[in-house]
Amino acid sequence: MRLLVILFVALGSYGVLGDYPLGFKRVLIKDVSACTCISSYQKAALKLSAPLAFKKFGISPQYMPIPPKDKLKGGFVTASVELGNYIDPLRTIDPAFISYPKGKESVNYTLILIDFDGHQANAPNARLLAINVNVPNSKNLIIGGDIAVPLISPVPSLGTGIHRIGGILYEQKAHIDPEQIEFLKLAKSRVIQLGQFTYTYNIKPEPLAGTFYTTEVKSCGKH
Ligand SMILES: *[C@@H]1O[C@H](CO)[C@@H](O)[C@H](O)[C@H]1NC(C)=O
Repeated sequence: MRLLVILFVALGSYGVLGDYPLGFKRVLIKDVSACTCISSYQKAALKLSAPLAFKKFGISPQYMPIPPKDKLKGGFVTASVELGNYIDPLRTIDPAFISYPKGKESVNYTLILIDFDGHQANAPNARLLAINVNVPNSKNLIIGGDIAVPLISPVPSLGTGIHRIGGILYEQKAHIDPEQIEFLKLAKSRVIQLGQFTYTYNIKPEPLAGTFYTTEVKSCGKH
């Protein structure tokens, strides 16, 4: 604890708390100048309904037999997610929120985050990013309920093309045990088939709501 206080005082004496000490900056300066920055909040106009967007972007029926009927509200600190809009990958590193304005108090939900274009993803297989179960309705569904499969980074690997990354909300019929062995297997394989998933876990098969964005990480120089 005392060490921590000393550390903060030391950092604070550089003016901005958490800023790099000057000596360190001198070493870094070349790399820092090549760094990208985020300018302002990225908005996007919503043009399609959720079912249409999921079909147009080739997610339904390829990965999901039935598209969600409603749109989930979602976004990152510096960008909103609007059914397929392109978001700079840098903007997808900071925490996200997802909410379902039509959500009910009387049920619990299952929230699945997926990358439809991740490694080993060939329809109907999708790359699983996270599953939360027993999620009560709230302003941020991502932080609610029980973690069944822990979240991994949604940022695609370099040079793997455009990824469609989404969140899908299902209504549960009953409580789901987040510690069952099947979730452990999913956490290891990270491969999910959404159509089959709902039958295995006694979830209503029609997804209630969903949203997704597109993003890509590519190198810009000649290599
Ligand atoms: C939702 O899940 C929580 C935690 O498991 C539980 O306490 C609550 O009763 C559930 N609510 C409903 C409506 O099933």
